Amino acid sequence: MSTIIENFKAHYGKAPVAVSKAPGRLEILGNHTDYNEGFVLSAAVSQSTEFAIAPAQGSVCRLIDFRGNSKAEFDLNNIDHPTPRDWSNYIKGVIVQLRKRGIEIGAFDGAILSTVPLSAGMSSSAALEVSACFAFKELFGIELPKAEWARVGQGVENQYMGLQSGLLDQFSSIFGHENALILSDFRKNEVLRTISMPSDYILVVANSMVKHNLVDSEYNTRRIDCEQAAAKIKAVEPGVTTLRDVPSAMLEKHRSLLTEREYRRASHVVGEDERVFQGIEFLEKGDIQDFGRLLFESHESSIRNFENSCPELDYLVELAKSIPGCVGARLSGGGFGGISIHLVEKAAADEYCKRLATGFKTQTGKEPELIRCSIGEGASSHKL
Ligand code: GLA
Repeated sequence: MSTIIENFKAHYGKAPVAVSKAPGRLEILGNHTDYNEGFVLSAAVSQSTEFAIAPAQGSVCRLIDFRGNSKAEFDLNNIDHPTPRDWSNYIKGVIVQLRKRGIEIGAFDGAILSTVPLSAGMSSSAALEVSACFAFKELFGIELPKAEWARVGQGVENQYMGLQSGLLDQFSSIFGHENALILSDFRKNEVLRTISMPSDYILVVANSMVKHNLVDSEYNTRRIDCEQAAAKIKAVEPGVTTLRDVPSAMLEKHRSLLTEREYRRASHVVGEDERVFQGIEFLEKGDIQDFGRLLFESHESSIRNFENSCPELDYLVELAKSIPGCVGARLSGGGFGGISIHLVEKAAADEYCKRLATGFKTQTGKEPELIRCSIGEGASSHKL
């Protein structure tokens, strides 16, 4: 983190007191299952957001983002509500969430340096929230369990930004394991285990270049559909609280209770929970082809059932089926634009990326952003 420390000194004329680092994340399988208390296979990536911090006098906090050289400033006495189109909302939101937990922080000067692509589906906002959380933890000596820090970040999205997202993004950023996928249970809010990835495959992220802005999207209405479907099934199956409790046989049995749309939304979530466990079995048997097939199935279900794909994402996944070297691909994250992930043989990756870029450009006229992702470690922080 030497660059951010040097940039901080040059900008503020003083040294930072603590630094933190929080990665972006990739959802591998388990789409829209987190807020249905289900299961997700995810990974932290090596792209991360760094946060350097020093105390300041008074109540005004200054921030600089070195990626775009964009500055922000706010008064701690005036942060109850977000301001429109302001990236510092994610940091103000963290302070507001801490206050709700009875924790007050003092004024600070902060700097950010991030390599997580913005608005793409790799959770740049969660990386920013978690990096701020961990910087505050160091500077102000705040002790909270790790899962509670994830809830602080989720609280920013839910209560400050108005997006009813689950815990996946912050959770993966905090609990990620180098070179392994994590299996999270979002009823217990626990990482159940890690699963290693075959070393001769890599994850290529292909950005559809369709701006994915979940706050403006249909994310919240998808969540309502899922909750309504669960409530209708619960009326006849008292053991059911959320879609996590509904196996596909039970969903079929009660299909007539649901509207056609609720049924399709629920089928996606129930199918995703099942694919997570099938996927783990395949990975453990070393059966990468079948694991890849589940990624394709997941995407198909996004198209037909959850309707959270878009033509550009569908092109990328169609291309994946026709270019040698790829065993599976799907949209990853909220959807409605953003990224697709492609599981590709390492030896074929160069040629694969070239052909994917050419094919996508021919069909859409746009250059896709392609990122080879290594699986990184979860968030960390230290005093200097
Ligand atoms: C976004 C949300 C997550 C999760 C995914 C879909 O990334 O922030 O909580 O719901 O979409 O799986």
